[in-house]
Amino acid sequence: MFPILIFFHSFWRWLVLGSLVYSIFIAYRGKTGKLNYTASVNQWRHWTATIAHVQLLLGMSLYFQSPVVMFQMLDAPGKLLNEQTFFRYIHLSMMMLAVVLITIGSAKAKRQKTDAEKFDVMLTWFIVAFIVIFIAIPWPFSPLASRPFIRSI
Ligand code: HEM
Repeated sequence: MFPILIFFHSFWRWLVLGSLVYSIFIAYRGKTGKLNYTASVNQWRHWTATIAHVQLLLGMSLYFQSPVVMFQMLDAPGKLLNEQTFFRYIHLSMMMLAVVLITIGSAKAKRQKTDAEKFDVMLTWFIVAFIVIFIAIPWPFSPLASRPFIRSI
């Protein structure tokens, strides 16, 4: 089960990032171009939040199966920041925060009165969430913990 979960969790990050970047782009374009908040924009807002929620569920299932999280690491027990600290606390809390930001941003955008306000709220909350996610992903170049860009099962 663990290899399947980690494969999907790794792959799903690209959907999370892609939908978020596209939503940020259309919100920016809508705001600066004073465009209408169309049904298609609304669908993107909705699907971006849904994709993030799926990743949250995958992450939570993975959390209780990951050897890095479950077993005490012996190689660097005294280090303040090792891979275990990263996945146990930092990745978990930052990603949960990001999903909360996306959820609030999406819900608030929906409830605004004017199209300009909808674009504005969507843009702000999604940009902040994107920054948090980008920092908390274990990129191959990350100083916190590194994992590959793509996993194979
Ligand atoms: C937007 C949300 C998230 C994104 C984009 C994301 C992304 C990633 C990526 C790219 C990896 C590396 C996968 C690999 O090894 O190839 C990873 C690993 C992991 N993530 Fe997430 N994650 C998110 C949320 C979460 C949440 C909320 C949790 C926990 C509740 C979580 C728990 C884990 C765990 C336990 C690992 C694997 C550690 C290991 O055994 O190597 N993730 N995540």
